[in-house]
Amino acid sequence: MIKEKLEEIREKALSQISESVDLNRLNDVRVEVLGKKGSLTAVLKGMKDVAAEDRPKVGQMVNELRTEIEKAMEEAKTKLESAAREVQLASETIDVTLPAKGSAIGHRHPNQIALEEMERIFIGLGYEVVEGPEVEKDYYNFEALNIPADHPAKDEQDTFYINGEMLLRTQTSGTQVHEMEKGRIPIRMISPGRVYRADEVDATHSPVFHQVEGLVIDENVSFADLKGTLAEFAKELFGEDTKVKFRPHHFPFTEPSAEMDVSCFKCGGKGCRFCKGEGWIEILGCGMVHPHVLEMSHIDPLKYKGFAFGVGLERIALLKYEIDDMRLMYENDIRFLKQF
Ligand code: DAH
Repeated sequence: MIKEKLEEIREKALSQISESVDLNRLNDVRVEVLGKKGSLTAVLKGMKDVAAEDRPKVGQMVNELRTEIEKAMEEAKTKLESAAREVQLASETIDVTLPAKGSAIGHRHPNQIALEEMERIFIGLGYEVVEGPEVEKDYYNFEALNIPADHPAKDEQDTFYINGEMLLRTQTSGTQVHEMEKGRIPIRMISPGRVYRADEVDATHSPVFHQVEGLVIDENVSFADLKGTLAEFAKELFGEDTKVKFRPHHFPFTEPSAEMDVSCFKCGGKGCRFCKGEGWIEILGCGMVHPHVLEMSHIDPLKYKGFAFGVGLERIALLKYEIDDMRLMYENDIRFLKQF
């Protein structure tokens, strides 16, 4: 009886073990056979019904079967584990013969392209390219440019102040002062860089944008030099047929001051949608450096004269590449950038 029972347990257990597809299933089989309520344990519990003289023999058979089943389980476990390892290895294998993913290449920004063009033009005219600080003293951004504390221009340029004395520059014009303070004359420089104003973002405004400042200081510099230089610049930038027009304006640090328009490079000045029917497009502010500005930077206004100009870099890039919304310039979407 017992012998047959044990044989039945043996066959069932061994076939279940060999059919186990994973370690969880194998563990279930262990519980079903060897566990507290398992089939083999039940045989041991039934020993009290076995004749006393047969007990050692039955006990030995149960123990042998237990050892056999445990061994079969151990082997099955080893097999399952190595199979699992192989699956994992296969999934981690790198096929070095597969072609590599193409990596996306960036593109020069329209601002950068326009700036390089402007730098090329001015370097050709003998100018130096210099940089100035973005975090600036109030003195360089305003005071030394003839914009005292109570000047209305200070409100016009909504300024990000860092503390009472320091600010984020609202214009690159402060680099004029830094260059003049170096005391090396003549000066022929342009200075590109970021400027900051507390403006809301829209199609034509951004709290961070770029300007290119220009400054020339020498003996005998006149308004005619300013006009000739900027007319040449406009021709190189927008085409040989470009005409320029100077309209009187006011900037605190130049006297006289002007704004310069270029003839519309789309319609040649007849008037079109691009220039809003005007035939002219405003591109920069300029003027003769104010004698008081020269004096504050220790340059003798009786000996030296100068002219200055300031260009909005985005404005140039938007015009030149016919971009109608400035926000596109700050998204850096490669599909947009690739067009220039
Ligand atoms: N800094 C002026 C602005 O932000 C632009 C400007 C006008 C700069 C005239 C100049 C200049 O150097 O001469 O509006």
